[in-house]
Amino acid sequence: MSILSPLLPTPTLNNHRVDVKQPRHVVVNQMYEKSMEEFTAEVRALFGQPLDLDRLLEYSGKLQEEYKEKLRSSNISMLPSYQHTLPTGFEKGDFLALDVGGSTFRVALVRLSGRKENGKSDMQIRRIRSVVIDEKIRGLQGEAFFDWMADRIADMLAEYNHINGTTNARLPMGLAWSFPVEQTSPRSGKLLAMGKGFCATHGCEGEDLSELIMRSCNKKGVNVEMRAIVNDGSATLVSQAYRDPTARMSLILGTGMNASVYLPTTALSREKFGDRPDAWFDSAKHVLVNTELSMYGKDILPVTRWDEHLNATHRLPDFQPLEYLCTGRYLGEIVRLVLLEAISTAGLFNGQIPEHLTEPYSLDTRIIAAFEADKSPSLATASAAFLAAHHVPTHSPGDWAFVLTLAQLVSRRAQAYLATSLHALWVLRTHEEGLQPNSSSSHVSIACNGTVAEKYPGFLSGCQRVLNQLCAESGAGTKDSTVKLEMSPESSLFGAAVAVCCLEDT
Ligand code: GLC
Repeated sequence: MSILSPLLPTPTLNNHRVDVKQPRHVVVNQMYEKSMEEFTAEVRALFGQPLDLDRLLEYSGKLQEEYKEKLRSSNISMLPSYQHTLPTGFEKGDFLALDVGGSTFRVALVRLSGRKENGKSDMQIRRIRSVVIDEKIRGLQGEAFFDWMADRIADMLAEYNHINGTTNARLPMGLAWSFPVEQTSPRSGKLLAMGKGFCATHGCEGEDLSELIMRSCNKKGVNVEMRAIVNDGSATLVSQAYRDPTARMSLILGTGMNASVYLPTTALSREKFGDRPDAWFDSAKHVLVNTELSMYGKDILPVTRWDEHLNATHRLPDFQPLEYLCTGRYLGEIVRLVLLEAISTAGLFNGQIPEHLTEPYSLDTRIIAAFEADKSPSLATASAAFLAAHHVPTHSPGDWAFVLTLAQLVSRRAQAYLATSLHALWVLRTHEEGLQPNSSSSHVSIACNGTVAEKYPGFLSGCQRVLNQLCAESGAGTKDSTVKLEMSPESSLFGAAVAVCCLEDT
């Protein structure tokens, strides 16, 4: 029996409670509930068993049903944008692009240069400033947060005026917003609840996001005009579509996660579009949909007791079930919870808790990524990174091997669940377009962005492997290129600029 209660696991030695603050050099010599071999086998089974192909296909089928239902009814997911065409790649101009992410706010001057003679479309970031969004900024409420943004925008505008010899240039501005937004026009939308620890919606949830930003800019005399607001997932898709005509889906995988998909308008109920001019409906045959994919999978994707604990102690339990299983904010946390139980019930690290490890969210996903990156038998680099953040006096090669195994189990599951969720979206899109899964038009590229997609060793390729198997099972043939995950660097910023052009006519 495991002692992990729904609350934080209390370390026990010989089934006695241990004061975590006791001196660390206590000699531990006692029996544990189970051996590390038994514990490892249990962890392997809990994380690994739900992942055979048949089961993944079964979850995909259920996810498709859930997506379909929300395409008809939900007001917090499957959100249609105003974007009904994808870029041609010929768009041109200078733009101020904003990217409000989970941990950074970036402001850039972006130039779109259109299609070159070599057939490729070109875009460049001419200047960029990046500011860390720390806990203090995350905690800013309402106007205070938008005032903080306006100051950063003012700095970049001043730089633009400086390099162009202008005094008060007015730049068209596009915003990639890494949170849900209910679009009410191409230029704006209602602010919806923000995850990732942000408090900006306090007192202004449901208000117009563009007005909130513009009010702060106007107050400070910042001469800009908000022309497009898009979710970062949609920004990534339009940015990739500028260069790659087969882009039809996107995946964000960083602190948070999301996907966008370009669907026929008939896939959504009319109510989902809210009030829009008749002209929009007349011209729109397709629409770019922000799926808010992180909100799916509850009661479909199997979870472990550690996931249940994470969810139960989360500020927003059940809000983003898929995100809690897959993203940079949570991979380290899941590993931390399992490690604590391994320490207390099976004697990992000789039963001693490494420094700070009892603090929620203290185990950085970068550290578990370091284990997967470390190919040396001793795991010297990875264990040094772990010890630098979480010192523990006694550790053995077996302890580090366990950390690696755990990192692999947690990340493989994340890859498989993500691949399954994307497969479900691809099947839905193929069906809604009336395509055969083996036809060339069902081949799509999925534009990817985010730190986990970019930096976690083997994550994207692992996800692609499972996706290939699932697509093949669904009749796509055995070619690996049916649904292709393609990294799309800087796509939030580029997408914010491209969105300004695409929305000009709507
Ligand atoms: C979160 C947000 C979503 C965003 C994603 C990736 O899940 O809800 O809007 O796109 O993170 O940044």
